[in-house]
Amino acid sequence: MTENLAPTVRLAGSTEMPMVGFGTWQITGRQCYDAVRYALEAGYRHVDTATMYGNEAEVGRALRDSGVDRDEIFVTTKLPPRDAGRADATLSASLDALGLDAVDLWLVHWPPGGAGEDVWERFVAAREDGRARAIGVSNYSLEQVDRLTQATGVTPQVNQVSWAPSRYDAGVEAGHRERDVVLEGYSPFKNTDLSDPVLREVADTHGVPPAQVVLRWHVEHGVVVIPKSVTPERIRANLAVFGFSLSDDEVARIDRLARR
Ligand SMILES: NC(=O)c1ccc[n+]([C@@H]2O[C@H](COP(=O)([O-])OP(=O)(O)OC[C@H]3O[C@@H](n4cnc5c(N)ncnc54)[C@H](OP(=O)(O)O)[C@@H]3O)[C@@H](O)[C@H]2O)c1
Repeated sequence: MTENLAPTVRLAGSTEMPMVGFGTWQITGRQCYDAVRYALEAGYRHVDTATMYGNEAEVGRALRDSGVDRDEIFVTTKLPPRDAGRADATLSASLDALGLDAVDLWLVHWPPGGAGEDVWERFVAAREDGRARAIGVSNYSLEQVDRLTQATGVTPQVNQVSWAPSRYDAGVEAGHRERDVVLEGYSPFKNTDLSDPVLREVADTHGVPPAQVVLRWHVEHGVVVIPKSVTPERIRANLAVFGFSLSDDEVARIDRLARR
């Protein structure tokens, strides 16, 4: 059941990242294992975890047991700010737990006080030695991204931030594009009122649920999105957003749901 693969976006100078990934925050143990297995069966080829989620071992076991080729799956993990002083050891622990030689993307989970220029040097080294195929940040402002670039000459390939129609910011979106930083949105549903009349109307036009409109809206903007679900039909539905598209007018109406 792998017909439902998401298209990819190219990371600066590096690998392809599927536009829709599977989020794993707040799921651990058997529930996490089962959800990731189901997601891979449904066609997801991108899984988002973090040291802080405490589920890397279950994610790794699900990846192995799935039978899907390692190189077909894009795996992200993140360094917690509390481990900024031991970045290399933390990456080693992530790789051990995941059972991988390298992650596809390693992110600084939050700015570790300031922009974390020292930590970023460790990230650059991890990419050079092949333990992280791509490197990026999360919850960074554009100004903090620029500080990393100025300090090291290396720009993060990705910034993973809270993103949803209610959080839409055209300036932030454009700023990432100008810097060739892929914007990856998290919590697409937690910050969305799925009963909003605009989302419902657009959803009715396309004969899909509002949740799919929200995810498709990310894709229309070129924003990678990583919905989490433990519910099989939602896991499937959240990937099935490539059989319809939104018009420019529909995208603009959803953009205007941003809370000012
Ligand atoms: N970098 C960071 O600091 C950061 C922060 C937060 C999240 N993240 C990442 O982003 C991922 C996604 O964000 P999130 O987990 O916060 O929240 P989310 O994906 O916005 O929302 C998850 C919630 O939405 C429900 N849901 C899923 N699909 C749905 C659908 N089709 N219709 C209606 N409800 C649906 C889920 O319910 P069920 O599970 O019960 O189906 C769950 O309650 C995380 O799992 C994590 O990987 C990163």
